[in-house]
Amino acid sequence: MRELVYYVAVSLDGHIAAPDGAFDAFLVEGDHAAVLFGEFGDAIPAHVLSALGLEPPRTRFDTLVMGWSTLVPGLEIGIDSPYPHLRQYVASRGDKQVTPDVTLTRDPVATVRELKAEDGLDIWLAGGGELAGALLDEIDRLVLKRNPFAFGSGIPLFGGAPYEPRRFELASVRAFESGVVIEEYVRR
Ligand SMILES: NC(=O)c1ccc[n+]([C@@H]2O[C@H](COP(=O)([O-])OP(=O)(O)OC[C@H]3O[C@@H](n4cnc5c(N)ncnc54)[C@H](OP(=O)(O)O)[C@@H]3O)[C@@H](O)[C@H]2O)c1
Repeated sequence: MRELVYYVAVSLDGHIAAPDGAFDAFLVEGDHAAVLFGEFGDAIPAHVLSALGLEPPRTRFDTLVMGWSTLVPGLEIGIDSPYPHLRQYVASRGDKQVTPDVTLTRDPVATVRELKAEDGLDIWLAGGGELAGALLDEIDRLVLKRNPFAFGSGIPLFGGAPYEPRRFELASVRAFESGVVIEEYVRR
């Protein structure tokens, strides 16, 4: 069965963005970038791929789920469909206007369960933390791009989920000279 994979950049202290949502502290250059643009090239926005003259590999993900606040930075610069090479779902409890390329869901847990029952490549949970908290018990695999910074405060990797130690097994660790460590865990 296809997996729900939370693939995300995270600080040493478990934050995926600054308190105001900024994420420019995360390293995009360095030897780890080959993994970001190669193995996980499907998770690069189309406008970035096209600026670099690259095509999405279409090998890792064919669908993504994101929270409304994760779509907003794109909307603010006129990008309403950041990943047109993927089926894009955005979670919101409101009546938002979205382009036909993007599907709104008010019930991301039900949506993810339906998607998992279909055939296809894995489903990328793009974030943010609030949506990841709501989907925590649906996540099959975590791929954490651990960056060598302690933020002190910010948006947590998982927001709002009830306390319960959920066991994941370490599947691989890749350390790079850039200081980024890509940690992969599967649900036990
Ligand atoms: N480090 C990384 O790799 C990475 C990746 C992704 C995002 N980010 C950053 O993370 C920040 C956003 O994270 P966030 O935690 O603040 O927000 P988020 O999870 O992206 O979005 C929160 C919004 O999603 C909707 N939502 C969440 N749970 C829902 C549920 N169970 N049912 C229906 N709708 C639901 C709600 O939208 P409505 O308010 O419209 O109802 C909620 O306000 C951004 O700054 C983004 O840049 C970082």
